[in-house]
Amino acid sequence: MPVWAVRQEEGTDMTTILVAGGAGYIGTHTDVELLTRGYDVVSVDNYSNSSPKALDRVADITGKHVKAYEGDIRDAALMNTVFEENSIDWVIHFAGMKAVGESVERPIDYYDNNVGGGLSLLKVMRAHNVKKIIFSSSATVYGDAAQLPLTEESPAGFATNPYGWTKVMEEQILTDVHRADPEWTVVLLRYFNPVGAHESGLIGEDPKGIPANLTPFIAKVAIGELPEVNVFGDDYDTPDGTGVRDYIHVVDLALGHVAAMEHINRPGVHIYNLGTGHGTSVLETIHAYEKAAGHPIPYVIKPRRAGDVAASYADPSKAEHDLAWKATRTIDDMAASSLAWQTKNPNGYREA
Ligand code: NAD
Ligand code: WQD
Repeated sequence: MPVWAVRQEEGTDMTTILVAGGAGYIGTHTDVELLTRGYDVVSVDNYSNSSPKALDRVADITGKHVKAYEGDIRDAALMNTVFEENSIDWVIHFAGMKAVGESVERPIDYYDNNVGGGLSLLKVMRAHNVKKIIFSSSATVYGDAAQLPLTEESPAGFATNPYGWTKVMEEQILTDVHRADPEWTVVLLRYFNPVGAHESGLIGEDPKGIPANLTPFIAKVAIGELPEVNVFGDDYDTPDGTGVRDYIHVVDLALGHVAAMEHINRPGVHIYNLGTGHGTSVLETIHAYEKAAGHPIPYVIKPRRAGDVAASYADPSKAEHDLAWKATRTIDDMAASSLAWQTKNPNGYREA
């Protein structure tokens, strides 16, 4: 019998969290942190960008089980069953599609899945009187910022691609929901660039095909699966000319969700940047992976990638002040853990 079932039989009064997209990259890392703190976790995931194996790995790490439902958050009947069968206290909403390039090619699918999925989730929450939600937003809502670092007060609500617009729209919808019913607790967490993996090397990012993002690409070059890293531009107005980002370890990010849930105890719309406050360039990131791998990683300078900004990094002080949360893991920790995951699982969760 799974641990959650034992707990239910014992009649313990646990906080139960519905993690929508609980088998994904950030979802699994958050599951681990929640389970190890004694929360009950229910996941709904259609495995469109993940695998049920990821949840087995979460159980291997924690010795505890997520109660998993396979299906789409847009499936109203399924979602109703999930809420009927579980006494949900909080919802953490990770279930979205996230590839910027793909969103430009398939805008209808992105708006349907992300905005439609969000609405479906809100409808079932309203029907079951559950009014606490943490939403995975993104620094992408700041668009091409005029001033750095980015604070929660920086101008937001701009996007340069359909993926980004889904985040802007979902933030707006959640804000309107709270305005209409002030009993709602809405937490908008704006992530910077999540990187790395759990220290066990059992869970990590598992992109399909050739990675579009920098760090999974470097990891595949490091293990010899791809020949060289393409550095998109070395003529930006940054210290070494390459793009600068605020990379945040996925375990720190997961802990940010736990901190938000544990510290926010009043209704409202609460917005937090989750980043480290430090910018790291593309070349510095490659060097961190070289250090972790113990060998050089070949790279070539290519033209700038369309739509990229020179630099983006957070001012994370509001989260530190309100949530007693601070990212502590370094770019070296991110590179080492990402490489450990990649080395142990060159095919991700798929069979070789
Ligand atoms: P992910 O693709 O690994 O996880 C998303 C999970 O949701 C996957 O398991 C997928 O199968 C599932 N899913 C998607 N649509 C669904 C639906 N309609 N019904 C049920 N399940 C569905 O991505 P991630 O990196 O873990 O990102 C999680 C969230 O964080 C996303 O909303 C993403 O936009 C947001 N975010 C990610 C990043 C990043 O760089 N990883 C940055 C900022 C924000
Ligand atoms: C980082 C840096 C590139 C690939 C994207 C989304 C954003 C968020 C996180 C979800 C840039 C450079 C990249 C490569 C390179 N996701 N680069 N060679 O663009 O900051 O953010 O993921 O919300 O919305 O836009 O991340 O990892 O693609 O790029 O030189 O092969 O690495 O130019 O400077 P980005 P990224």
